[in-house]
Amino acid sequence: MNDALSQQGPVSGEAGTRGSWGSSFGFIMAAAGSAVGLGNIWGFPMQVGKGGGAIFVLLYLCCVVFICFPILVAELALGRASGRDPIGAFQVTSPATPWWLVGALGVTAGVGILSFYCVIAGWTLAYIWYSLSGAAGQNPPAFFGAFVADGGKNVFLSFVVLAITAGIILGGVREGIEKASKLMMPALFAILILLGVRALFLPGAAEGLVYYLKPDLREIANISVLNAALGQAFFSLSLGMGAIITYGSYLSKKTNAVGSAAWVAGLDTMVALLAGFVVFPVGFSISGFNPAEGGPGLIFAVLPSLFSSMPGGALFGAAFFVLLSLAALTSAISLLEVPTASLVDRGWRRGKAVLLMTALVAAIAVPSALSQGAVPWLAKVPGTGMDFLSLMAVVWNNWALPIGGLFISIFVGWVWGADKALAELAPEGKIFPGARLWVFLIRYVCPLAILFVIVMTARGMFAG
Ligand code: TRP
Repeated sequence: MNDALSQQGPVSGEAGTRGSWGSSFGFIMAAAGSAVGLGNIWGFPMQVGKGGGAIFVLLYLCCVVFICFPILVAELALGRASGRDPIGAFQVTSPATPWWLVGALGVTAGVGILSFYCVIAGWTLAYIWYSLSGAAGQNPPAFFGAFVADGGKNVFLSFVVLAITAGIILGGVREGIEKASKLMMPALFAILILLGVRALFLPGAAEGLVYYLKPDLREIANISVLNAALGQAFFSLSLGMGAIITYGSYLSKKTNAVGSAAWVAGLDTMVALLAGFVVFPVGFSISGFNPAEGGPGLIFAVLPSLFSSMPGGALFGAAFFVLLSLAALTSAISLLEVPTASLVDRGWRRGKAVLLMTALVAAIAVPSALSQGAVPWLAKVPGTGMDFLSLMAVVWNNWALPIGGLFISIFVGWVWGADKALAELAPEGKIFPGARLWVFLIRYVCPLAILFVIVMTARGMFAG
């Protein structure tokens, strides 16, 4: 096979990309740093609102447990066994077949996702200031609407986010980021719990909780809600595009991969659920609140009114948005790292690879940044009824990631082989508890369930 490729082991390190995690805890924090981000705190409540409340939560949890968790384990096994970037992982385990295209789809998805992710991270950054100044708290929805309609500001902010992300990847201060995320993640968790407790005492909180926790089971067969839940689960866990393959390639053979995966999935899910416990009680305490209409601005329209109701709220709000910005940054890094690594593993210089990918992402970010009111046709892309940013989110989250996950599950379950994955996951011959169930899920449940959702969604779209 390709010699240049096969020379790069998991610890060749010379380009500054390869290395290995110091400990299981370090890995869990880094993978959780990639997983926990805007998807949990911005995306999850928004999707719950669009999906009709508790029914979405229920479907989401099912997707996490039965589809995404097995794929998380599969990506880790594939990454660790191959010690490669997503394209290389397929090339090594299945030489001279077109399976590497799945890796290539993942690399493309990384670029596509980051292009809208950086816009929202830009809003988060701006809201640190707007919370401190108090501007965000006076009539939050109107303020948010005016803010995002300012095209220049939004393009600028998203470029700032990209520049910081690229700078970190370029400088290779990954150590620092990892250390920081060990501190920031628990802090974010703590502040969310605090806000959640505060939110429970607001008038209207009970109504919010009912909406959030009591599913309307008549909606369970609503395929668009199921599609959104699946896409959201993939997005939140950073699955389906090889980010976890890449992180798995840095994983030492001694680490208990399945146990670590359980931690990552558990932490990620808890942060998302907590965000809902904050957003919905607060939302329903505001008169005229309609969760379905929140859209991308939901948390920005809702949370400032919580902060302005609290003593010391300006500082609280600023602290919250600082932590959210950092969570977004650790996720953005993992998004940019996949396309960068794919060029570096093909002989590119790291600096050049970062610059090219960042420039590409920046160019695609512009229409997203201008889609919230600055440019009318981007606010309602003809033929879709959606703004450009939301359209990007649907294309990548609801389609590209589940399709990537479909192929990964087929590949690991049948082509590379579940037995090889099991051997990789149990280096000392100690099969992990639930291994048989995992094989069943990865071979049958994951592919069939994802295929079902994709086909039914496509049918629904073309029928109506
Ligand atoms: N999971 C992150 C979030 O919830 C976003 C993210 C980072 C991601 N890396 C990814 C999504 C890779 C899909 C694939 O905010």
